Amino acid sequence: MRPGMMLRAALASVKAGAYVSGLVPPPEGSLLSRSQETIDLLLTRRSVKPFAMMEPGPDDADLEIILRAGARVPDHGKLAPWRFILFKGEARRDFGKALRDIYKVEEPRADEDRLKIEEERLLQAPLVVAVISRIVPSRKAPEWEQVLSAGAVCQNMLVAATALGFVGSWLTEWYAYSAAVARALGLGENERVAGFLYFGSPSMPKDERERPVLADICSEWKPRQPS
Ligand SMILES: Cc1cc2nc3c(=O)[nH]c(=O)nc-3n(C[C@H](O)[C@H](O)[C@H](O)COP(=O)(O)O)c2cc1C
Repeated sequence: MRPGMMLRAALASVKAGAYVSGLVPPPEGSLLSRSQETIDLLLTRRSVKPFAMMEPGPDDADLEIILRAGARVPDHGKLAPWRFILFKGEARRDFGKALRDIYKVEEPRADEDRLKIEEERLLQAPLVVAVISRIVPSRKAPEWEQVLSAGAVCQNMLVAATALGFVGSWLTEWYAYSAAVARALGLGENERVAGFLYFGSPSMPKDERERPVLADICSEWKPRQPS
């Protein structure tokens, strides 16, 4: 890119709000430069379950990066059809108490051990973020696209957390689908949980997981031969 073009590109980025907080320096040269680190991260990222997490979790500065990465996903019509609820510190137990009470009503036969699991669920990870899918009336972007965008938020946050040296897990379990939990979260009629994202440091090495064989999931489109 010629210097004049680079300057214009950088200014356009600043105008677009990409670098406003100064957390991300404007790129030198082209935004399209190859980043092997990013590719390696995408090809090796693994989820780690909350039981295998420990302190430290992302601090406020890292959390801001994770949230900004989440809010930077493709979003047809600029609707921001998602919002984030953070569970930090003692709030994780407070919400756990709500989960315990709700679980007791929904599963009256649950024993004390199970109820304790619900109460301490969020405490397993230093930080939990609920990503809420929020459907906004739009003629441009149908509901399906808005839900997909919320899924992209979850993945962007996991990738950002991994890039910052943390591990993450995208979970739903029963409490993403419970109407009583939705009420406890204060969700509106147009809202539902896309995922509870657990973040922390790994307490044990990550194992590998079998991945789909590309040949099984890829095909090349070809025009149909006239019969
Ligand atoms: C929307 C969604 C909900 C999920 N909910 C759960 C869950 O409740 N419990 C679970 O064990 N895994 C759940 N998973 C799967 C894990 O997030 C994760 O993808 C899986 O453990 C494989 O790990 P990987 O990310 O390294 O492939 C969910 C995944 C998605 C996309």
